[in-house]
Amino acid sequence: MSGTSHPVFSVEGVSKSFGVFNALTDVSLSVRHDEIRAIIGPNGAGKTTFVNIVSGVYRPSKGRVILDGADITGLPPQKRARLGLARTFQIASLFRGMTIAEHMELAVRGRDTDRHERTELLDRMGLSAFADRDVQTLSHGDQRILEMAMAMVLKPKFLLLDEPTAGMSVAETDRMIRLIGDRLRGKVGVIIVEHDMSVVTQTSDQVTVLAAGAVATSGTPDIVLRDPLVKELYLGSAAGH
Ligand SMILES: Nc1ncnc2c1ncn2[C@@H]1O[C@H](COP(=O)(O)OP(=O)(O)OP(=O)(O)O)[C@@H](O)[C@H]1O
Ligand SMILES: [Mg+2]
Repeated sequence: MSGTSHPVFSVEGVSKSFGVFNALTDVSLSVRHDEIRAIIGPNGAGKTTFVNIVSGVYRPSKGRVILDGADITGLPPQKRARLGLARTFQIASLFRGMTIAEHMELAVRGRDTDRHERTELLDRMGLSAFADRDVQTLSHGDQRILEMAMAMVLKPKFLLLDEPTAGMSVAETDRMIRLIGDRLRGKVGVIIVEHDMSVVTQTSDQVTVLAAGAVATSGTPDIVLRDPLVKELYLGSAAGH
């Protein structure tokens, strides 16, 4: 089911409530196998709730989550990973005292992958010189790039990037943008949850704007980010992301 036009990932009519509070209401969107979609929205819009629905941390109160034609709504994170859904985390989730190479081993967890391919991936990500270094000695930017390499090593069908540039310097952010453009764009379906608009315009084919738990608008970055409605949503939000 890896056709050219059919979405590799979609959520259909997803709602999530916590008690009487609706954090997400009837959210639908889809991502093609070669498309990067950014999810943006002001504070409290429901972005983190959405990430947890996509990754399987939460089960939606209503609606369906579909990966490459299969209904994965009720599946836990590990089962989603086995079906080809990979993710990175907003906060670096690496293990002190372990090297980059050991993290890559951990990421493949005994599954059938080529050692040579792994080395090549580290090389393409600019990490091969550090392969035997403790991850603690890496810059924050390199740690996040390692997380991305760990997500990519199993050649996922669909990749969820949770604020890939959070906490990065300008130079690190530029490097991450280039890696996303070179290594992911046009090659795999991706959702990027991001608050930095310049990252969105430089990486994404499509943008979905969440506000108060619902899709406010969506479209190409040039149109969506110029939309007065979107500007208004952000002006109304204190921290502006
Ligand atoms: N476990 C929970 N229990 C109750 N309410 C929750 C829970 N998680 C989130 N919410 C509420 O749902 C709404 C959406 O929260 P969410 O964290 O998804 O927003 P967000 O877009 O990630 O915001 P931010 O930009 O501040 O990270 C908020 O009003 C929040 O208080
Ligand atoms: Mg959040």
